[in-house]
Amino acid sequence: MINIAVLGYGTIGSGVVEALDTNQEVIKDHAGQEINVKYVLDLRDFPGSPIESKLVHDYNVIVNDPEVDIVVEVMGGTHPAYEFVKEALEKGKSVCTSNKALVAEFGPELIALAREKSLNFLFEASVGGGIPIIRPILRSLNVDTIHHITGILNGTTNFILTKMYEEGSTYEETLKEAQALGYAEADPTADVDGFDAARKIAILSSLIYGKNVDFNEITTEGIRNITDVDMKYAKALGKKIKLLGITYNIDGKIYSEVAPHMIDKKHMLYMVDDVMNGIETHGNLLGDTMFYGAGAGKLPTASAVVSDIIDEVKHLHVNIPIKWDAEPAVLEDHSTHWSKFFVRVDSECEEMKTAFKIEQLLTLEDHPDEYAIVTEEMTFAEFDAGIKGREHIRNIIQVK
Ligand code: HSE
Repeated sequence: MINIAVLGYGTIGSGVVEALDTNQEVIKDHAGQEINVKYVLDLRDFPGSPIESKLVHDYNVIVNDPEVDIVVEVMGGTHPAYEFVKEALEKGKSVCTSNKALVAEFGPELIALAREKSLNFLFEASVGGGIPIIRPILRSLNVDTIHHITGILNGTTNFILTKMYEEGSTYEETLKEAQALGYAEADPTADVDGFDAARKIAILSSLIYGKNVDFNEITTEGIRNITDVDMKYAKALGKKIKLLGITYNIDGKIYSEVAPHMIDKKHMLYMVDDVMNGIETHGNLLGDTMFYGAGAGKLPTASAVVSDIIDEVKHLHVNIPIKWDAEPAVLEDHSTHWSKFFVRVDSECEEMKTAFKIEQLLTLEDHPDEYAIVTEEMTFAEFDAGIKGREHIRNIIQVK
């Protein structure tokens, strides 16, 4: 029997305890032995709950107990999660986590520490919730050179964009609905401004390049500026608007960004709607692969966390190698990225029709005071030069 401790009894922590209980037979079969939750750490009390007798408020009880072999960090945030995880590894305990903020910021250090101690620091649930993506990248796609990854990596924003597209509602109305349903936080900044997706694409990028991609260096744009009128144009173009996290490796040059994009039916991520996540990878041998599933939620995320626990039970004091060095990966300047651009303009601004080589010119019957163009593909530097000093632009969205 292996003893574990769960740090945090929120949505994911309670999901981990529930998953271990509900699927105990199948989990025991795969792990080769019983997994016992010896402690749950939380500041709150949970009278009458199944973990009442396991609840502790002091982390020292856990970290100083030699019977605990695995610590499951599902508290979220970077502090004290970082200090707790580091101390656990230093004291000979493997750690798994769902915490993308922790992994994006301290991944290389914690991976190196686990390696040095012949332990493991695993984080399958930190990207794509329940979707297996970290393990496939490390163990299955490791034959390939991954040329690019494109992902819908944030469920909250995908829910908002899907509702706006399907119901014609405004961003503000739909955000309130997402908050009422518990998808978006009271402070939705990390989701709607793209920072959550930036951390996730930084983690995936670091794993495919083996060097540290700093999420702070990824040009990040969220969905706050997407309007119901943009959605009407997207429909007229046969496209949907999706918040994409992207990383490209072209001849050793790394391009990475998070931004809303218009994508059409031919794109693998077109059908990824509501709170679902989708991740498309392209390898030089395998070609395109798509991973799809629940990117958040109690039991889907718990499923990924428990898969890490099983791996750690099977590799107790044997490090599973993860190549993610602290050496910084150099990202190409955003001005060198390329795209097609959708631009909405006031009708009086005729010159936008000739400012670029355009693929499409579009008007909507119920919005006679404006029109839109879709440009041919160009770099951001070229596009920025073309719109410099121009007024009357209502919105700009990249087009795939
Ligand atoms: N806030 C995140 C999302 C939770 O909406 O995708 C899962 O990481």
